[in-house]
Amino acid sequence: MKVIVQSPEQIAKLAAEQYRALLGEKPNAVLGLATGSTPLGLYRELARLNKAGALSFARATSFNLDEYDGLPAGHAQSYRTFMDENLFSHIDIPIERTYIPGRADVSDADGQGYDAAIARAGGIDLQLLGIGNNGHIGFNEPCTPFGSRTHLAELTPSTREANTRFFSSIGEVPTQAITMGIRTVMNARAILLIALGAAKAEALRATVSGPVTELVPASVLQLHPNVTIYADSDAAKLL
Ligand code: PGA
Repeated sequence: MKVIVQSPEQIAKLAAEQYRALLGEKPNAVLGLATGSTPLGLYRELARLNKAGALSFARATSFNLDEYDGLPAGHAQSYRTFMDENLFSHIDIPIERTYIPGRADVSDADGQGYDAAIARAGGIDLQLLGIGNNGHIGFNEPCTPFGSRTHLAELTPSTREANTRFFSSIGEVPTQAITMGIRTVMNARAILLIALGAAKAEALRATVSGPVTELVPASVLQLHPNVTIYADSDAAKLL
């Protein structure tokens, strides 16, 4: 794993450069995208570069990592709304090629709907990840099997607590989500993980230098051949 420690502003620029290089080389790249506070700087930078004509998403396809289960369509806190507001409405990606997982993707007999769609699109070229305070990636909470594909997941109390800030009370935070599995994420050709802030420091330490264990889902990334981690100095303080 390559670990780069920089300011959040520089991280947004460096990560965006990785997208510019990828889309320059492969305009029809398949992008794995993430929600949360962490990617916002990167998404602003991608929108800026797209407007300036420095990169185009016109032939790209995207698959988001996860989505809450049980929120009505168009809910302000759904990840579809988040992606529309923070990225898709600011770039030239065709909206019909932006996929967000839903119940239908895991309700087929073998549960492989979303993974099969990713495979049909050619597989993910670059998967973006944040990391949970508990080391989760997507909504793969501690103890999720490394072999998991896209599935319906229970959110842990700590994740619901962390996400309460977007809702008016913890009772409104969904208890389940549909998430790419660990295997789904590991199948990406390259992975870019961003960690910002001291609340991520212990999870990042365990990810980079702890044992590879299902207790820390992100630790599986030690087994992936092409992972770049961008961390600010607060997140990197235990490395
Ligand atoms: P955050 O979430 O970017 O809002 O910190 C990251 C995550 O939980 O994966």
